Amino acid sequence: MNVLTFDSDDKLNEAAANIIIGQIQTTPRAVLGLATGGTPVGIYKQVVREFNRGMFSFRNVTTFNLDEYVNIPIDHPESYHSYMNSHLFSHIDLPAAQCHIPDGNAADPADECRRYDEAIELSGQIDLQLLGLGHNGHIGFNEPAHALIKGTHVVDLAEETLEANARFFDSVDDVPKQALTMGVGTILKAKKILLVVKGADKADIVKRALQGPITTDCPASLLQTHPNLIVLLDAAAAGKLS
Ligand code: PGA
Repeated sequence: MNVLTFDSDDKLNEAAANIIIGQIQTTPRAVLGLATGGTPVGIYKQVVREFNRGMFSFRNVTTFNLDEYVNIPIDHPESYHSYMNSHLFSHIDLPAAQCHIPDGNAADPADECRRYDEAIELSGQIDLQLLGLGHNGHIGFNEPAHALIKGTHVVDLAEETLEANARFFDSVDDVPKQALTMGVGTILKAKKILLVVKGADKADIVKRALQGPITTDCPASLLQTHPNLIVLLDAAAAGKLS
């Protein structure tokens, strides 16, 4: 594991963006796993800034998002489809047919999960998976549990997740209660993982994830087993690491 700490948000975003851009420049048909939430906003902004300088193209890139809420209209401002369009996809030359987000409105969610896993398999696996970290140690929407699920599945969101995401909605009651998420098995199969965490409120969970026991109670702790994990932290998130 390679852990880097940054004293400014701009430098952290720049470092993360450079890893993503480097992957695109060095892998002819790069497959990227993408994340949503507050953490990647500044990273995507920096990627778009560099894209606009004409140094690289997304024409041959394929993307798979980690997750999407169940039963949220695709054009709802807080759907992850809307998030990706507004923060990244509408600003770059990624062909629509090459970007994948689970369909939270699928008539048959189990079938949608199977289809999503098959599409990832067909792509030849994810070269670089971008991840944020939930306060409860979730990655994607893989919540703490007695057992974790390997592939894409429907998940009931944990109380902490509903509370954390309430800031994006009018109230906690408006946060969708379920999501489709890529499984931990798929995440761990990515050839490289880039975990980015910001803020003092995440310092405890960063410590548990990176230096605590490997346990399904903290899904991110399984990342310790990955052979190619890069962790970018701001100084506040790194505050409790020994
Ligand atoms: P955040 O979410 O970036 O909005 O803090 C991270 C996560 O829940 O995975």
